[in-house]
Amino acid sequence: MSTIGTHRTDRTRREVVQAGAVALAGAGLATKAHAAATLAINGGAKTVTVPAAVSSKLTRWPPYGDTEKQALHAMIDKGTYYDELPVFEKEWQAYTKSPFVKAHMNGTSALNSMFFALNLEPGSEILVQSYTFFATVLPMRFFGYVPIFVDIDPKTGCFDLEDAKRKITPRTKAILPMHSWGMPCEMDKISEYAKEKGLILCEDCAHAHGAFMQGKHVGTFGAMSIFSFQTTKVMPTVEGGMGMYKTREYYERAAAYGHYEDPPKFPKDSPYRKYDNTGFGQKYRMHPFAAAIGRVQLRGLEERNAVTRKNVKALNSRLVQLPGITQPYVRPDQVRAYYSADMLFLDEKKAGFSRAAMIKALKAEGVGASVWEYPEQHTFTIYREPQWWHHPPVIPTSMPGGAQVNNTHFFLPLFHGEATELIEQYAKAFEKVWAHRADVAKL
Ligand SMILES: Cc1ncc(COP(=O)(O)O)c(C=O)c1O
Repeated sequence: MSTIGTHRTDRTRREVVQAGAVALAGAGLATKAHAAATLAINGGAKTVTVPAAVSSKLTRWPPYGDTEKQALHAMIDKGTYYDELPVFEKEWQAYTKSPFVKAHMNGTSALNSMFFALNLEPGSEILVQSYTFFATVLPMRFFGYVPIFVDIDPKTGCFDLEDAKRKITPRTKAILPMHSWGMPCEMDKISEYAKEKGLILCEDCAHAHGAFMQGKHVGTFGAMSIFSFQTTKVMPTVEGGMGMYKTREYYERAAAYGHYEDPPKFPKDSPYRKYDNTGFGQKYRMHPFAAAIGRVQLRGLEERNAVTRKNVKALNSRLVQLPGITQPYVRPDQVRAYYSADMLFLDEKKAGFSRAAMIKALKAEGVGASVWEYPEQHTFTIYREPQWWHHPPVIPTSMPGGAQVNNTHFFLPLFHGEATELIEQYAKAFEKVWAHRADVAKL
């Protein structure tokens, strides 16, 4: 699968550069103007000239302003706080059309509550992608669950169902995909497989507020799902989280786990009503200030996502014409969100230069290009030390999909407002770098 694996290692740099040149000529993008201009890294003029004060406004996150300030001031003036939580929950529920929701302190506490709600025997296995934040996996150890590390599909960066199929055992009871960087996993195929094997489907939607698949919100496919509203996220409340539950049983267990005042609100026949005053030992209530910000953020979510999507489309449609650049594959029945960055992939062989050289050249042109290897959970110490585990997980020897994404990706900033000029300059900077591939190969 790996593009790296298909590289001919005996190719000389000149051959690689020539291959890039042929492809570039085919794409018709090496304009004379680009070729005549000297690369900024070699002393030429920078391509991106939009002032930093303007571009930093377009990339600024979280996107707070007067409305958030007013909401917080109004809450303080009113002098009551906790009544904001059910209002935020109702609005989120109406937006996502989820049967039951519960606001939590953050995404991590929502995940802990979800694992408690699962109510599986110790030793039960959960298929989970390794390419994720620790909170998707590590809290399993508190409940005696065993993570089975699943790879990602290098075309999307999301859960690789085929790898999960290879790893399922008779002890596997649940499956937990994560919608990486706002890209929906293939929830139709995953749901069908979960049904066929009797697995409980859960979703980590920490990156994917306002992402859809076949017209349905991500997070509504599984029995349970979580969102994070942490500062960097698509819908930020500084800290905050939300759990979504398909059944009353899951909702009541998840809510009772970290919300000691919730049990008496459950219907009379609830087996969890008797845990009033204690819950199950955690305190996971969302901060009311976060809920106030969340209500404002939710009102603007669709519009913000649409602007970001439009800007990414305008830029990426130019960039993918350059030899070696591709973007994650989005199915026609998916609408993705963009979390944190615009992730693209570079095939060094097709480009004719290395990713590191490209980043150097682009940075000199004024492009905010970067590389950041997303943590793969199976590589961390905590999973290798059996003393922390009821049943220690098996550590896979390789994760080719995750390695490919980490080795070939690069990030560009997201622009959250009118950015026509900046996008044009970014596209020109790439085209200039590609027009000088022989120079870039020497960097
Ligand atoms: C995939 C994923 N899941 C869960 C979380 C946890 O969310 P929080 O930071 O709100 O606890 C994060 C946070 O970065 C995340 O990226």
